[in-house]
Amino acid sequence: MKITVLGAAGGIGQALALLLKTQLPANSELSLYDIAPVTPGVAVDLSHIPTAVKVTGFSGEDAKPALQGADIVLISAGVARKPGMDRSDLFNINAGIVRNLIEQVAQVCPKACIGIITNPVNTTVAIAAEVLKKAGVYDKNKLFGITTLDIIRSNTFVAELKGKLPGDVEVPVIGGHSGVTILPLLSQIPGVSFTDAEIESLTKRIQNAGTEVVEAKAGGGSATLSMGQAAARFALSLLRGLQGEQGVVECAYVEGDGKYARFFAQPLVLGKNGIESRKEIGTLSAFEQKALDSMLDVLHKDIELGEKFIQG
Ligand code: NAD
Ligand code: LMR
Repeated sequence: MKITVLGAAGGIGQALALLLKTQLPANSELSLYDIAPVTPGVAVDLSHIPTAVKVTGFSGEDAKPALQGADIVLISAGVARKPGMDRSDLFNINAGIVRNLIEQVAQVCPKACIGIITNPVNTTVAIAAEVLKKAGVYDKNKLFGITTLDIIRSNTFVAELKGKLPGDVEVPVIGGHSGVTILPLLSQIPGVSFTDAEIESLTKRIQNAGTEVVEAKAGGGSATLSMGQAAARFALSLLRGLQGEQGVVECAYVEGDGKYARFFAQPLVLGKNGIESRKEIGTLSAFEQKALDSMLDVLHKDIELGEKFIQG
């Protein structure tokens, strides 16, 4: 299996590449691309780590050499938030970057599974879908907005509050990946219960966790290390599904049945062709149902922005 990371010299890209170099199965290939000239050097650096994962690095304007034969493409290319910005403020720069990279994916490795990290994810995934559709190669079972950071944050915060081991907690997070569209389903954690006040404050903390990091980094960027871990977890799960492992489940922001919005983060069973099936979101508490109802306007607008960017 070959994984290509686009944006590989950035904060997320380097953390992700390091985790993949150390955790991918033997005989995998890791291909790194970024416009930054340092990228081949990042690949040389990683190549000295003694694992049976071949690493190559490419820089410049052309991503195509890095995409040859890719089974999974992960995209973290683009700009990150600074304090005072919303994720939607990144649209003006990142929309064009994602369009350009996806056009190249459509040409070189149209059958690859694609994981989009670049913000605003609610919109960049719609852009990617429309570009792939225009190129005649869109497969909605192979395009993912990576929202795993919302899940690992939820697991961490719940474990902290309830005195559990983070590895023992798994919180489904549905909706999208910004502010009110991030909805952790705290009512669905086996053996854990909360007061109403805990649910309200935990939900807010999970929704604002990206901003918590942006403010703490004080102008130095947004989450990179935790996102590297989140993207590595997602990519390794996707790979296990592609290799035929049964019962691999991850939440991600994907095109579904359109019940709530065209793109919606929900639990997915991953398999040999990407998404094998979309799981139901289950029974929601009254608090969660209200939060779901009130996020949909924002989500629809974010998606429409991406669709119109390509459709004109
Ligand atoms: P960064 O600035 O550290 O790295 C971005 C990299 O993209 C840089 O190395 C830059 O050279 C490269 N780049 C820019 N334009 C490019 C192009 N056209 N082709 C190839 N590479 C290009 O930023 P970061 O902290 O790694 O964040 C990257 C993106 O990920 C941001 O949009 C950020 O908001 C987003 N993000 C998403 C999540 C999530 O949960 N999905 C979490 C954290 C950050
Ligand atoms: C996050 O959730 O940390 C990312 O989406 C980055 C950001 O801008 O908050």
